[in-house]
Amino acid sequence: MRTEIDELRALIRYHEHKYYIENLPEISDADFDALMKELEALEASTDVPIPPDSPTRRVGGGAVLGTRLQHRNPMLSLNNSYDENELREFAERIDRLLEGAPVEYVTELKIDGLGVSLTYENGVFTQGLTRGDGEYGEDVTDNLRTIRSVPLRIPVETEIAVPRVLEVRGEVFLPKDCLDEINIQREAAGELPFANPRNAAAGSLRLLDASITASRPLDIFVYTLNYAEGTEFTTHTASLENMKAWGLKCNPRTDYHTSIEAVQDYYERWVEERHALRYETDGIVVKVNNFSQQRELGTTSKYPRWAVAYKFNAQQAITTIEKIDVQVGRTGVLTPVAILKPVILAGATITNATLHNAQEIEKKDIRIGDRIVLERAGDVIPKVVEVLTADQTDRADPFEFPERCPACNTPVQRTAEEVAVRCVNVACVAQLKRRIAHFASRNALQIEGLGPATIDQLVDTELVGDVADLYALEVKPLSKLERMGVPSAGNLVRQIEQSKETPAAKLLFGLGIFHVGETVAELLIEQFLSLDGLSTATEEEIESITGIGPQIAKSVFKFFSQNKPLLDKLRAAGLHCFTVAAASQRMEASLAADGFFRGKTFVVTGSLEGMTRGEASNEIKRRGGRVTSSVTRKTDYLIAGEGAGSKYTKAVELDIPILKEADFFEKLQL
Ligand code: IVH
Repeated sequence: MRTEIDELRALIRYHEHKYYIENLPEISDADFDALMKELEALEASTDVPIPPDSPTRRVGGGAVLGTRLQHRNPMLSLNNSYDENELREFAERIDRLLEGAPVEYVTELKIDGLGVSLTYENGVFTQGLTRGDGEYGEDVTDNLRTIRSVPLRIPVETEIAVPRVLEVRGEVFLPKDCLDEINIQREAAGELPFANPRNAAAGSLRLLDASITASRPLDIFVYTLNYAEGTEFTTHTASLENMKAWGLKCNPRTDYHTSIEAVQDYYERWVEERHALRYETDGIVVKVNNFSQQRELGTTSKYPRWAVAYKFNAQQAITTIEKIDVQVGRTGVLTPVAILKPVILAGATITNATLHNAQEIEKKDIRIGDRIVLERAGDVIPKVVEVLTADQTDRADPFEFPERCPACNTPVQRTAEEVAVRCVNVACVAQLKRRIAHFASRNALQIEGLGPATIDQLVDTELVGDVADLYALEVKPLSKLERMGVPSAGNLVRQIEQSKETPAAKLLFGLGIFHVGETVAELLIEQFLSLDGLSTATEEEIESITGIGPQIAKSVFKFFSQNKPLLDKLRAAGLHCFTVAAASQRMEASLAADGFFRGKTFVVTGSLEGMTRGEASNEIKRRGGRVTSSVTRKTDYLIAGEGAGSKYTKAVELDIPILKEADFFEKLQL
């Protein structure tokens, strides 16, 4: 018999599938979180071990990495073609080898991410490997678990039973907008930005702290059914359909063609349309649909002969480097930036390009005044791919990376293990300015009207020496700043005042602690409720939270022990969330809103006039309640429509409250 805990797990899996795979959520994020919380609480209250496919097992702590394991069969790469002629040659070779037999092609988008294999045993996700060198991959099971679109259990029962052993392959990727955001955060946090989506996916999957992986919104598309014990499919399209039916996430932009001309049309369509996708693609993949034809065509040592990657051209533009600036990030990392003569590339005007670090400048020998080729391929940030003036004699001297911080003149530090060059002066004004900007940003304290120009002046005039000083600002001195005036000054002071009510998690994020992004900040506040609660926690206590790994715990603990004066100052300034349990307040508010159903177990019986029993169940579930089929002592309410029979009698026997249809509708507030 299914226990309460099993039912809750099934319900969560159902909603995960709706949200992460079908993109059709049925309940709000808050309700989903509440279900997860309830499951965590139930699991914590019993001694029964938590199975590996429980939804709570997605948030890992330390991950086991580094183990190299052999793939069941090699994960091959794809041969590339770059134009219509090469595509035609691919098709002609196939026609020759298959002696003119009709061929159907499947076209898929080539996702720019990291290839992985996923193994399910008896429907449970048991192992995930990176492609590695194709022969051996790296064990990233713990980190893959954190990806919500990777089902931990094959959830749907289909006509074709889920094979005992199933291995699928696909691409893990980071959506474009998240990549931008992570790069901004990385630079601000003193880490080097990811150069392209592939590196970002790989970097995020291969972290020793799976809780950091969990904080990155990685996603997956599965594109190969590599092994299904005891099951045979005749075509790739059939295998894709089955994978979908098993609840795996396949790319919906897949197509099917009977001629190579139609394949070319598909390609041309996506040359333009790909820019509107939320993930990066660097081409299309063309595959022969029929598996027996695939076997007949076979593979070379590196590539299958039945598939080819037809790549999109990287988007390029030519311009001149006018200047090289060196910017100082929130944690002191110095990043060189090329200031360019403005140029249009992939529909956007580009005025600067990151040069990443000193090594990159040296390697490519990039100098001021150079004409360069700028490229935006799989890369969100445009990069300099080539210097066109490299052979000219009248070039500027090689760029000299500063030995001192351009903002505060402190000698910079280089460490052996990092390419990054840092300013280690904690009082560096450039770092301070970036910290204030982060503090005031939209997802932190949201102080509108505190833009870079104002921050510059506040710091330069020494009105502000740390983020807490913002709360002591008064209208009069503020209005003396350039382009300020009394009305804007008044407005800014009001905005700052309002920010005192910011929920604790946002303040925690705004403090800019290394490794503490929004998700981690929320996890910490959920546990410790306020900043004061968190500041008295030990490193072990922090690490014991599901979803918080050792690196994060260390970083948080260190911040709180080193920044007492700043925290005292913020508390004294009157930020509410220091002591008020903001998170719990919020939770109570949402509980009150639809609290009647949440966490309670219902049975629906008889026929309702206003809706079907199924609809009634959905309404209950949507509000965080559970619906079971039989009345037991655990049932909280029986909802009884017309003609209720034995369940009604049972409920009366067990003294379980009964809701008539009208009472039920009233509770639903429909
Ligand atoms: S099929 C033998 N399909 O591209 C079959 N690969 O450059 C090889 N990739 O290693 C894989 N999207 O990591 C296939 N729809 C797709 C793909 C795809 C991205 C990656 C994959 C592969 C690499 C080859």
